[in-house]
Amino acid sequence: MTKLRLAIVGAGPAGIYAADILLRTERSFEVSIDLFEHLPAPYGLVRYGVAPDHPRIKGVVNALRGVLDRGDIRIFGNVHFGEDITLDDLKQHYNAVIFATGAVRDASLDIPGIDAKESYGAADFVSWYDGHPDVPRTWPLTGEHVGMIGNGNVALDAARVLAKHADDLLPTEIPANVYEILKQSPVTDVHVFGRRGPAQVKFTPLELRELGELNDVDMVVYDEDFDYDEASKEAIATNKQVKVIDRVLQKWRELPSANGAGGEASRRLHLHFWAKPVEVKTDDEGRVASLVYERTKSDGAGGVVGTGELREQPLGQLYRAVGYFGSPLKDVPFDDRHGVIPNHEGQVLAEDSNDILPGVYATGWIKRGPVGLIGHTKSDAMETITHLVNDQGSWWQPADPSEEAIPALLASRDVKWTDLDGWHRLDGHEVALGEPEGRERVKVVPRDEMVKISRGE
Ligand SMILES: Cc1cc2nc3c(=O)[nH]c(=O)nc-3n(C[C@H](O)[C@H](O)[C@H](O)COP(=O)(O)OP(=O)(O)OC[C@H]3O[C@@H](n4cnc5c(N)ncnc54)[C@H](O)[C@@H]3O)c2cc1C
Ligand SMILES: NC(=O)c1ccc[n+]([C@@H]2O[C@H](COP(=O)([O-])OP(=O)(O)OC[C@H]3O[C@@H](n4cnc5c(N)ncnc54)[C@H](OP(=O)(O)O)[C@@H]3O)[C@@H](O)[C@H]2O)c1
Repeated sequence: MTKLRLAIVGAGPAGIYAADILLRTERSFEVSIDLFEHLPAPYGLVRYGVAPDHPRIKGVVNALRGVLDRGDIRIFGNVHFGEDITLDDLKQHYNAVIFATGAVRDASLDIPGIDAKESYGAADFVSWYDGHPDVPRTWPLTGEHVGMIGNGNVALDAARVLAKHADDLLPTEIPANVYEILKQSPVTDVHVFGRRGPAQVKFTPLELRELGELNDVDMVVYDEDFDYDEASKEAIATNKQVKVIDRVLQKWRELPSANGAGGEASRRLHLHFWAKPVEVKTDDEGRVASLVYERTKSDGAGGVVGTGELREQPLGQLYRAVGYFGSPLKDVPFDDRHGVIPNHEGQVLAEDSNDILPGVYATGWIKRGPVGLIGHTKSDAMETITHLVNDQGSWWQPADPSEEAIPALLASRDVKWTDLDGWHRLDGHEVALGEPEGRERVKVVPRDEMVKISRGE
């Protein structure tokens, strides 16, 4: 029987679902899968993106864990594709590769002053509060008034973490250093800026409603933002999600805190709609001083046009949450404009000719771009796997497909890889750290410590 030796790069949900779907697909060949992951822990953005105060996502983690714990996928954690292992290596030892490397960095926002001191990408902030090993342990929370550009779920996640009192995050799995820094935060007002209107937001009702439940935080919306045009009215009437969002916002219009007039909480979370960022102004030391934004109005078709009216919001700190962006991988085609690996339904295309590259596949955010929930990576993986299976005749013919070749290769390069048993050790260690404090887990943050614990050193 033919055997498919498959390498998957990236152990986020896309990579894990791809492995699971292939193993459960009816096929005429045997399969053996090696999963390479840059971090010493699996799950990608489920561990390092999903907010710590969203425990309902635990169900997804359990499903992903269930796949790995079956034991029919080999994991090589702490292995960076492009450095520790290359495309040439994979061609030597596998019939095909699926890239599932996601997106970790912030999309850029091209406005004057965006590179000022105290101006940050929300992705970096998220990585910090989720204890990502590759970002600094400290975060300078300095501003009383903090700005957040964007109306997606990441903007709401980051704004919520900034507005929330640290003690209300303590029961979650936030690392100790994050709690200590959030505890010192001087923030009083978080301002979220959306360039379109309430009926055109990208965030979802559950995430919005959650803001209204924060302890000692008043929601502030402004009456002037609710002068709906026909397109907005139509969206509210026909789209259930938009209708719920509008209902939540309309309730907040009735709060004493509406229009910034009153309220009793010590912190406020303002939602400014129709506010297109124009410029970040700085003080004499080059630090964020304010955000200049232009009032927009509906163009009648879901988009906006500028009104020419400029406004300025004084700020001590600014974040942009305008989307994530994929990173190029060594020797793998990359579409710089969209931040993805160019592909046709997961079959990777050559950069210059658009021809299908045999044996090379993509799935998840690096295939489709950084939009969509964890569940969407499943249908994505299904599409990619269907092509992989149908492409049997065009797979690579590796010189050495033996399973022993990979550990030997990594050992020869002095790579300290971690495996499934190692992940169980680290997982157990984190859970044990949380137990005395009645917390589900306390994440280990430094990479060398994660590796040592995993390897039992
Ligand atoms: C802040 C944030 C919060 C979110 N919250 C939710 C939520 O609550 N619910 C929900 O359904 N969805 C949520 N999402 C969306 C969800 O996280 C994504 O849909 C999903 O993680 C995408 O999966 P992926 O596997 O494509 O990418 P990722 O999850 O990013 O996984 C990619 C993996 O590849 C690895 N990798 C990257 N480069 C290399 C390399 N060179 N070598 C080896 N490995 C590499 C990475 O370390 C990572 O583990 C959130 C997204 C963000 C950004
Ligand atoms: N709790 C959850 O379930 C959860 C949490 C986090 C993330 N996610 C998911 O992860 C995915 C990524 O989320 P995301 O928030 O990064 O992206 P997103 O949903 O695409 O939102 C990006 C936001 O940035 C705005 N934006 C883009 N460019 C801009 C510019 N130049 N100026 C001003 N605003 C700009 C967009 O406005 P326009 O709409 O006008 O373009 C939009 O409001 C989404 O699918 C999201 O649902 C889910």
